[in-house]
Amino acid sequence: MLRLDLIDPLISGNKWFKLAPHVQAAAAVGADGLISLGGAHSNHLHALAVAGRRFNFPTVGLLRGTAQDTPTVRDLLAFGMQLHWLGYGGYRARHRPGFWDEWGERYPALYPVAEGGGGLVGALGCVGLVALVREQLATLGWADYDGWWLAVGTGTTLAGLVLGEANAHPVYGAVAVPADHGVAQQVQRVLQAAGVADRGYHLLDAARGGFAKVDSELVQFLWASEAGSAVPLEPVYTGKALMALRRQVEAGYFAPGSRLVFVHTGGLQGRTAALRKHEQACLAPLAGNLET
Ligand SMILES: Cc1ncc(COP(=O)(O)O)c(C=O)c1O
Repeated sequence: MLRLDLIDPLISGNKWFKLAPHVQAAAAVGADGLISLGGAHSNHLHALAVAGRRFNFPTVGLLRGTAQDTPTVRDLLAFGMQLHWLGYGGYRARHRPGFWDEWGERYPALYPVAEGGGGLVGALGCVGLVALVREQLATLGWADYDGWWLAVGTGTTLAGLVLGEANAHPVYGAVAVPADHGVAQQVQRVLQAAGVADRGYHLLDAARGGFAKVDSELVQFLWASEAGSAVPLEPVYTGKALMALRRQVEAGYFAPGSRLVFVHTGGLQGRTAALRKHEQACLAPLAGNLET
């Protein structure tokens, strides 16, 4: 397991790798700060807000839906991010041509970053993970490995690994979002933009009924896995990805003895809120029974 959750107490997981090239691009064009999008539990906005605080540049977050008070939102405000709640319709308009023009007029000195730090720029920040892992595996005495396994949201990190591998090893993506998010097309677009063939990876459904949907089987898997390994996971990405891997191994998808590099993509800042939501959903019917 590549423990990217350990690289920094606040900017953890794949976030830093996707964000760093955007920060560099912003600096190169002389922007004062960065503006980006996400939900009320967004790991990406969280990392961006921390980066702004740490490296002293202004950040603006455009949020999905109406104003909510979540631990992530409280952190964003504490780190000095300026927030705008776009509503649900307003957030859906983010793919419309001209969306960024409006925000560019309002914040001309800020550099816009796509949702989740995506696109080719974000993917290029993840390419170096391949060399990093190969170097570390060599010190562990691993002559080779059989592939990568990681959680997929936008597909940016996976695309970066595919570019870094250049078909040397397959990259398996456990997709934590539903099919209508268009992950396959997004990966294709990034690879096309990089001018490489659309191959070298496999996408497998690991959404378990929807993005950020947490069920009891998943929570039990997460507890058992954490108890057995002492590696913290969260249920939205890493827990689902590891559970999907376990299922594939049990189904004989990989030959015994296969060596996969599982990428821990972080996201632990949202762990407590995601688990609490599930706990509350489980307790709600019970509370109803007790009242009657
Ligand atoms: C913890 C975590 N893991 C995995 C992902 C998925 O990464 P990507 O959007 O690059 O597919 C995300 C979302 O960005 C995330 O927050």
